Amino acid sequence: MAAHILTITLNPTVDYCMTAPGIEPGLKLRCTEPQIDPGGGGINVARAIRLLGGQATALVAIGASTGANLLQLLALEGVPTVAFQGPGETRQSMSVIDQETGSQYRFVMPGPVWQDHDVPRALASVDQAARGDTLVVLSGSQPPGVAKDFPSILSDHVAGKGSRLIVDTSGPALFHLAEQPRESLYVLRMNGEEGEELAGRPLATRADTAAFARELIDKGVARIVVVARGADGSVMATKDGAWHGVSPPAPIISKVGAGDSFVGAFTYHLSQNAPVEDCLRWGVAAASAATMTEATRLCDPEVTEQQHRDCVVSQL
Ligand SMILES: Nc1ncnc2c1ncn2[C@@H]1O[C@H](COP(=O)(O)OP(=O)(O)O)[C@@H](O)[C@H]1O
Ligand SMILES: [Mg+2]
Repeated sequence: MAAHILTITLNPTVDYCMTAPGIEPGLKLRCTEPQIDPGGGGINVARAIRLLGGQATALVAIGASTGANLLQLLALEGVPTVAFQGPGETRQSMSVIDQETGSQYRFVMPGPVWQDHDVPRALASVDQAARGDTLVVLSGSQPPGVAKDFPSILSDHVAGKGSRLIVDTSGPALFHLAEQPRESLYVLRMNGEEGEELAGRPLATRADTAAFARELIDKGVARIVVVARGADGSVMATKDGAWHGVSPPAPIISKVGAGDSFVGAFTYHLSQNAPVEDCLRWGVAAASAATMTEATRLCDPEVTEQQHRDCVVSQL
């Protein structure tokens, strides 16, 4: 039986994406009509899974009128959503492409500050939404005010429900997961820079990345550890071994959403009980597909299939 997938977004956003004829200070920059998308890590993971033919429920903290707007956008996209009351007003973000240079400027706001009583509300919503064998995905920035041990607490909660947690995070929350391991965490995924920051050393070769991923496995940080290597794909370690997966080089159009596409494809195939090496192959393929599509687009399903056929996975 396939597992359910529940993605969690504590700090969602309504994304406005547009172009301007040339970006200069002091002028009124007359932009094109914006493309408006629901965004934030977990939401993008759920959208990627939907694009790939699966279904994930997005659990989102929402606030005030932008929160209501976000729910409408998710409904229009056909992403099943469970909302709970978060603090303040859901944030917005804006990305503007300069038509002259093609450079993209991304303006991202911090989001409302969480108070102590907001975290138990989030955990209670997870408890309600995660039933039986659910793959729960936590992706995206932690809202201001949420303590660094939130993913660890969530991991124990989810395991207590008989479900499994997949975390893609950075900064203090990532360090905390690595420094105070919980047996309950199923997958920990990070990109290359996050990996080097956590390792405290450069991870120049695939062998370096694999050695670091194995260290995390040996410390009991998670059952599966994935560390990306930029254009050189991703390395995955479990107690049974380590693998590297890479797609053939392709022209990069926009890297936005590549990490969430990786997590979406990886989780979707885990939910179908595919072997972990094949989940890695799908994740690498979807990340690569996302880099081949324009700004806000996630992984195109046909490009992902093609990349999956061409992706090379080898044991390290
Ligand atoms: N040319 C490339 N440069 C950087 N990342 C790439 C490239 N091609 C594929 N990728 C993959 O895209 C993903 C980017 O992940 P991440 O940095 O977490 O993205 P995000 O910006 O969405 O958080 C990684 O899995 C990485 O291996
Ligand atoms: Mg990322």
